[in-house]
Amino acid sequence: MTAQKKVFVKTYGCQMNVYDSGRMTDALAPAGYETTDAAESADLVILNTCHIREKAAEKVYSELGRLRALKAEKAAAGQDMLVAVAGCVAQAEGAEIAARAPVVDVVVGPQAYHRLPELVAAAATRRSVDTDFPVESKFDHLPAPDAAATRRRGPTAFLTVQEGCDKFCAFCVVPYTRGAEVSRPAAAVVAEAAALAAAGVREVTLLGQNVNAWEADGPDGRTWGLGRLAFRLAEIPGLARIRYTTSHPRDMSDELIAAHRDLPALMPYLHLPVQSGSDRILNAMNRQHSAADYLRLVERIRRARPDMAMSGDFIVGFPGETEEDFAATLAVVDAVAYAAAFSFKYSPRPGTPAADRSGQVPEAAKTERLARLQERIEAHRAAFNASCVGATMEVLLEKPGRWPGQIVGRSPYLQSVVVTGSDGGIGDLVQVRIDGVGPNSLAGSAVVAQREPESRPVVAEGAS
Ligand code: SAH
Ligand code: SF4
Ligand code: F3S
Repeated sequence: MTAQKKVFVKTYGCQMNVYDSGRMTDALAPAGYETTDAAESADLVILNTCHIREKAAEKVYSELGRLRALKAEKAAAGQDMLVAVAGCVAQAEGAEIAARAPVVDVVVGPQAYHRLPELVAAAATRRSVDTDFPVESKFDHLPAPDAAATRRRGPTAFLTVQEGCDKFCAFCVVPYTRGAEVSRPAAAVVAEAAALAAAGVREVTLLGQNVNAWEADGPDGRTWGLGRLAFRLAEIPGLARIRYTTSHPRDMSDELIAAHRDLPALMPYLHLPVQSGSDRILNAMNRQHSAADYLRLVERIRRARPDMAMSGDFIVGFPGETEEDFAATLAVVDAVAYAAAFSFKYSPRPGTPAADRSGQVPEAAKTERLARLQERIEAHRAAFNASCVGATMEVLLEKPGRWPGQIVGRSPYLQSVVVTGSDGGIGDLVQVRIDGVGPNSLAGSAVVAQREPESRPVVAEGAS
């Protein structure tokens, strides 16, 4: 039998990295690795990194500094510890990491995770770097998600259906770190979702850098889009909720919009980044749509699903952005009235077209615009949350709350809800009346189904 070893994974960046971290630990299990939540007790530390903004990438090097000290301490005590860098920084700066950080034993890009066990084994004797975009898909070679590990992760799960991006927005590193758009076959996605559901998962979030561009051969020989896939996934016993992220406005098909109208399992929350409300800036970003196109699209989506809660991403201070352009962004925020949104200062990324453009916006202006944007977004979020008070909605119970008697779950609109008075367990869907709003969550009480008198058994059990 293989001796038990421990792996610690630290995950940065987007949900796709969270999903990949799970797949990496599943892939390492046959080599005798079990997961630990402390680097100190690990034989192998994996940093699953993000390259999207400068700050994200810098975190890797400071973490590697800490690991160097830990590795030296362990070596003094006669223990080995391997360090692996995975994810988008590994892909973008693999050679630089190898040169700058001798503590690193393995560098592995996101397309090569199926080779991780072999790279780790080889690292005992030499350093391994693998940032190829292999012809074979990693998904064909990674082991299926482990049922016990899935159960430990709780009633919600991520499922990557699409990777990479062909859109080349002028600010973004993703097309370089994740490669071209690739969709996983429908049958593989359905099989993985069914395995997750069999292990107790009630809600699956389909992931992709452009998830709504997912398109693949269906089992019926036709080409399926994400809407068709959602209908098929909704047939899986036990799977009650389907979400997907991140979508691009240009890939929001009629079929997907219709799925939101017709499929109750498809949750009424859509993350649909627009980045800016100024056509001049959208054009310079290469987003290939106007602000009016986006607003019309949101309107169509809301006609199909009137209670759709919208979320988005925004960048302030893209090169050339004026005060007037920024005002147009605020106007879009007001027009859509987002339930939630993420906003970032533009960060010039090496190798992307916008990085060397003239008209870079001074840091002080970015800071000031970001504060104003976030204030506006927060006002809409608070108004949306306040509008939920008094409503009854279905909540998926996900984990115990801080106090006895509390269970924390999620509303259809992805709000965190602290539920009291429920005799349901983790993984149950319960009706909850929303009583109040806190800074980061809603508070609600379980609605106990009132038994109708006529539904009471008339004849006592066994009396017939
Ligand atoms: N595929 C998604 C976004 C992936 S990156 C989409 O097309 O919307 C997540 C978010 O990070 C982006 O939506 C954008 O708002 C932000 N982002 C990406 N590159 C950035 C950069 N160079 N500077 C600041 N924010 C950036
Ligand atoms: Fe980046 Fe644009 Fe692709 Fe999104 S669509 S991943 S922002 S290049
Ligand atoms: Fe970051 Fe890579 Fe995701 S750059 S946002 S981890 S795709």
